[in-house]
This record gives sequence, structure tokens and C-alpha cells, in this order.
Amino acid sequence: MPDIIEVGGFSHRFGSLTAVDTITFSVRDGEIFSLLGPNGAGKSTTINVLTTLLPLQKGAVRVAGYDVSRDQPAVRRSIGIVFQNEVLDRDLTVWESLEFHGRLYSIPRNERAARIEELMAVVELTEKSDIRTKYLSGGMRRRLEIARGLMTRPRVLFLDEPTIGLDPQTRRRIWDYIRRVNEEGTTIFLTTHYMDEADHLSDRIGIIDHGRIVVEGTPEELKKSLGNDIVWLDTDDNDQTAALLGTIGSVHSIRAAGEGVTAVTNEDGTRCLPNVIDLISRNGISLAGINLKKPTMDDVFIHYTGRAIREESTDKVHPHQRRRR
Ligand SMILES: Nc1ncnc2c1ncn2[C@@H]1O[C@H](COP(=O)(O)OP(=O)(O)O)[C@@H](O)[C@H]1O
Ligand SMILES: [Mg+2]
Repeated sequence: MPDIIEVGGFSHRFGSLTAVDTITFSVRDGEIFSLLGPNGAGKSTTINVLTTLLPLQKGAVRVAGYDVSRDQPAVRRSIGIVFQNEVLDRDLTVWESLEFHGRLYSIPRNERAARIEELMAVVELTEKSDIRTKYLSGGMRRRLEIARGLMTRPRVLFLDEPTIGLDPQTRRRIWDYIRRVNEEGTTIFLTTHYMDEADHLSDRIGIIDHGRIVVEGTPEELKKSLGNDIVWLDTDDNDQTAALLGTIGSVHSIRAAGEGVTAVTNEDGTRCLPNVIDLISRNGISLAGINLKKPTMDDVFIHYTGRAIREESTDKVHPHQRRRR
């Protein structure tokens, strides 16, 4: 199966700021691909170039087989977009929003009506057909935006932070719609700063940080790449504990951070732990706490970027985004 999105050596600058720095990746036909990264990582810039909203400055980008710098109309005919910031006209009803979008894309009248009915059913907004969008909840508006992005039956649907700021229950429902749309054959390219969203939804993930893709793979591959298990220990001498862990062959990525010591083992952790406990007690260190767990997407992110995402991002709009608009 050929790749439906091909990005090679792609960079984008805003004046002297390099927002995207020489990234290369591809998305396979039919998959859900997530670009996971903190605020300011370059996700929206990437999506904006891939969807022809920003001109390509450097590198090669092909979407659905078309070059984004040479064949913009063909790219646009092949895609649907849901923006990070809501762009609904608040005085239009649900039905009118879809109808207006259909006209904009010259979908024939009879086809338009059928498609609107079909899509309102998919996102469960049929009953809200005649309600103005300003009276809908945030989750309903997001669903309407997804439906609108699908009006043109795109081969690829681009979703920029599809569940930003929504409550956990609504986020799960949005994930269900995204999966449903994907199962019907639409390739999904989404950006997110939510670890759980990327983990639960994606076939493959690219982690982006400071404009660079630091690692790429399936959620399983990424987690496995760290090792088998993560061991956490708290002792009366964490520095010496860290040094002792370093003498065990199967243990690596030892971090004495905050409270306790974290390390990754390539062995089955339940087999490794007795050795660890034995080693530290032989050295006269006393143990205050111990834990063993499988690597999560948070651990993957910390491992490849050197920090946790919540240190620098919130669900709110970033100050520089506010200034721009
Ligand atoms: N129109 C713009 N003008 C100047 N700087 C911008 C513009 N758009 C984005 N940036 C900057 O580029 C970087 C990447 O932004 P963006 O792609 O929006 O990141 P993300 O979507 O991952 O939060 C940030 O430092 C941001 O401030
Ligand atoms: Mg963004």
C-alpha cells in the first residue's frame, strides 16, 4: 500500500523562528497517525502546510499523491480539515452549517442533502438539525466540525487537537467517531498534546518536540522501545541506589529525579526485582517504597524529550497563540 502522506526534509520558519525543523515521516493509506507534542512544537504549522493553508517553504510534501506546492486544488479536493480553533458560524443551524460547506465545495444539491442526513446521523446531531450552533455544547460543536470536515468525502481527514478543552466523557465519544470514520476508509492525521489520546487512537505516532520528530512508531513499539518494565524505588540513599542499579546489566535509563529512583529493565521486572532488593540491602540501604509498572506513553515522552509534557503545556490557549489572533 503506498503512503498517502509523504513528508521529506520539511522545514518552516516564521521570520527568524524555526517552527518546523527538517522533519521526515509518512502516513499509510487507511491508518490513524498522530503527531504528539507540547504547545509550540510545530504541530499546527505542519498541518497547515500539509493542507495548503501555509505555503511550503522547504522540503517535499505530498498528500494523496499530489504535491502541495504544485497541485493545491487537487490536494484540497482530497482532504477535510478540522481546525484547532472553532470556526463555526454561530448563527447558522447545524443543518445550515453543513449545507453552506457543501455549497462552498460545489457538491450537487441532491447529493448534498443525502450526505448531510448521513453525517448528522454519524455524529448523532440529527435531533439538533435546526438548532443554531451557539446553543450547542462544546462537544456537539466539535462533532459538527468533524461532520463538516467529512462533507467532501475526503481521503484524508486532518484534525488539529480534536478534543482540546473537552471533558473526558466527550473526548471518548469523539474518539469513537474518529475511529468510525477511519473504519469506513478515511485516513486520519491528527495532532494532540494528550498522551492518552495518541495512545488509544493511533496506529502510529510521531513525537514532535521543538519542531523535530524525535521518534516514530506504533504505540506498542514506542513503549517496548523503553524496555520491559519500569522500577521505582525510594530509599534512605537514592544516589547510592542509583549507582548500584547501574551495576546490573539489564537495568538502564536510571534517573534519581524528585522522589526516589526510576530505572528501566530489559528483563521481566518480577524476576529482576529480587536481585535489586538483595543488592541494596547488602549495601546497608533501607527501602521505603517500591513499585513496578509497564512503560506508558508518558514514560515514552519523558524518555525521548527529557521532560513531562504537563510541565509546559495547559489545556488553555497558549499566550502567543492568543496574541496572533
Ligand atoms: N503565524 C505565526 N507567526 C509567528 N510565529 C508563529 C506563527 N504560527 C506559529 N508560530 C510559532 O511557531 C511555533 C510552532 O507553533 P505551532 O505550529 O502553532 O505549534 P503547536 O501547534 O505544536 O502548538 C511556536 O513557537 C509558535 O509561536
Ligand atoms: Mg497547535
